[in-house]
Amino acid sequence: MLIKRRKGWEIRESEVTPESVFMTRRSIVAGGLSIAGAAAFGIAPAFAAADPTADLYPAKRNDAFKLDREVTPEKISGDYNNYYEFSTSKSLASLAANLKTRPWSVAIDGLVEKPMTIAIDDLIRKMPLEERLYRHRCVEAWSMAVPWTGFPLSKLVALAKPTSGAKYVVMQTFMDRAQAPGQKQFWYPWPYTDGLTMEEANNDLAFLVTGVYGKPLGNQYGAPIRLAVPWKYGFKSVKAITKVTFAAERPKTFWEGLQASEYGFWANVNPEVPHPRWSQADERFLTTGERRPTLLFNGYGDYVADLYKDLKNERLWA
Ligand code: MTE
Repeated sequence: MLIKRRKGWEIRESEVTPESVFMTRRSIVAGGLSIAGAAAFGIAPAFAAADPTADLYPAKRNDAFKLDREVTPEKISGDYNNYYEFSTSKSLASLAANLKTRPWSVAIDGLVEKPMTIAIDDLIRKMPLEERLYRHRCVEAWSMAVPWTGFPLSKLVALAKPTSGAKYVVMQTFMDRAQAPGQKQFWYPWPYTDGLTMEEANNDLAFLVTGVYGKPLGNQYGAPIRLAVPWKYGFKSVKAITKVTFAAERPKTFWEGLQASEYGFWANVNPEVPHPRWSQADERFLTTGERRPTLLFNGYGDYVADLYKDLKNERLWA
């Protein structure tokens, strides 16, 4: 996926942050450590602030979403992330911890009845939080299974009241070079942007995530709010969203801006369509390293296949 430098998936196991560091981070998230204590551990004080929505977790699990595998342990999924704003290495949790996620607001604009900017805690408290077990398949071929907490993207669409001209929902990440050193790399088309059609956004599977493992979302996963669209390759799931725009035109996404021949708009998972530089026939499960055959739509065809049945001449799979 990385175009200019060593490929992200080539990270050596020895580069993974030791578990002790990760466990320290967890105890801070749980609110157990003071700001001074956090600084003493070399961890950004921003992380030490208790999350204002912590009382909402864990949310009730929606049992409609079943897994065909074990949930990936938090210490593995929390230390193997893609977040180019902070690093092109996978072990970036301590860097992402520097992002200040409060105050935070989400602007809703474009083709809507009434544009608004809403504070993240007001948005989260307005929404019906639930936990869902989802598979996640990165275009690089690694995969995991995660208990996300959040709410359907369709609920945000309903709040926004898009006008009839809206055909796409475009999501954008923050832009702040001081906090996110990766954004100083001018050859990337910042800010990170991706989008869905309105039909995709209203599909039951499209989920806005605010928590994971029964707690508020850790920064490395995209706090305070990120997308999860599990039938698509992971790069569609924008982290740390600050703007949701309803548009008539299909957006040019971050990855299309970088390498359109390799990363298209649709990016639905398909074992039969290789990435130009590697096969997509198998996935590598992060927990065990086990390889398994990739499933069409990452196994979510019952939910989403109908969305694409009339779309001819579109590059649906890459
Ligand atoms: N969102 C932003 N803002 N920046 C990123 O670099 N990486 C994407 C996606 N969302 C990315 C992002 C990619 S390539 C993947 S696979 C997933 O986030 C990874 O999510 P995870 O780190 O929670 O596994």
